[in-house]
Amino acid sequence: MTEDPVAYRQRAREGWEAAAEGWDRHHRWWDAQTRAVSTWLVDAISPQPGQTVLELAAGPGDVGLLVAELVRPGGKVVLTDGAEKMVEAARRRAGERGLEDVVEARPMEAEWIDLPAAAVDAVVCRWGYMLLADPDAALRETRRVLRPGGVVALAAWADAEANPWMTAAAQELDARGLAPPRDPDAPGPFAWADPDAIAERLADAGFLDVAVDTVAFTIAYPDLDAWWDTQVDMSPTLRAVLAAADPAVRDELMEGAQARVAGYVAEGGAVELPALTRVARAEA
Ligand SMILES: C[S@@+](CC[C@H](N)C(=O)[O-])C[C@H]1O[C@@H](n2cnc3c(N)ncnc32)[C@H](O)[C@@H]1O
Repeated sequence: MTEDPVAYRQRAREGWEAAAEGWDRHHRWWDAQTRAVSTWLVDAISPQPGQTVLELAAGPGDVGLLVAELVRPGGKVVLTDGAEKMVEAARRRAGERGLEDVVEARPMEAEWIDLPAAAVDAVVCRWGYMLLADPDAALRETRRVLRPGGVVALAAWADAEANPWMTAAAQELDARGLAPPRDPDAPGPFAWADPDAIAERLADAGFLDVAVDTVAFTIAYPDLDAWWDTQVDMSPTLRAVLAAADPAVRDELMEGAQARVAGYVAEGGAVELPALTRVARAEA
């Protein structure tokens, strides 16, 4: 990446702190839409009572909260994220579900994990590693905190073209010359789209029995306005561009982006957009 990693981390952190309120607002909907991926990850680590599981870049903690139900009695889930407001949302959700006794939510950098060596039985990270300035450092850290034979399970988005639910807004920014400069080597949602590259990174970090798969699912919205609102609320990039744009440009952007996904609107107005993610499992 051409951007200084320290500057990138700072900018990314601020973006995620700002987006956390939107993630919190939409968490039930997001949890439901992405359940197929959560289920793949939970099955991949096969949590057992008494085990300790770490979730990295957890956001509001969808996957870790499912795991928490399975490690009782005696187990623990450490829900972590770099953004403090995401961690607060995850902690509150754990409380709402009566999981305080088994969930510990705390801010943590995925690139330098604040846990002793061989401290956990499994690590899950959904749509996190590919956003990091040094994802390979995060994988090595992941392996360090896993006990020998422990399992990591991760998800990373497949190609941009296969994820119109996320790319339509970015394409509209591009078309209007409003997209931030693009560096092909920079971290980002599609930086880990290549399944062979995921396998190679895991092997390079020392993981064994690496398996990479793909999960296709759909993301449903009540209507096109709901699609746009969740995009704006949950995407740090889109939020930043819109905050700097004047109201007329914002309206044009919304209309242009909505036109790009209009072909997915069903009778009655609901929208169902395809999504494609890589998923991987490996052993320490
Ligand atoms: C796309 S969201 C995914 C959230 C959640 N895992 C999910 O699947 O719904 C990415 C998350 O990664 C977190 N994140 C970004 N950089 C991070 C870092 N360096 N260390 C820890 N978390 C980070 C963000 O705060 C955000 O919550």
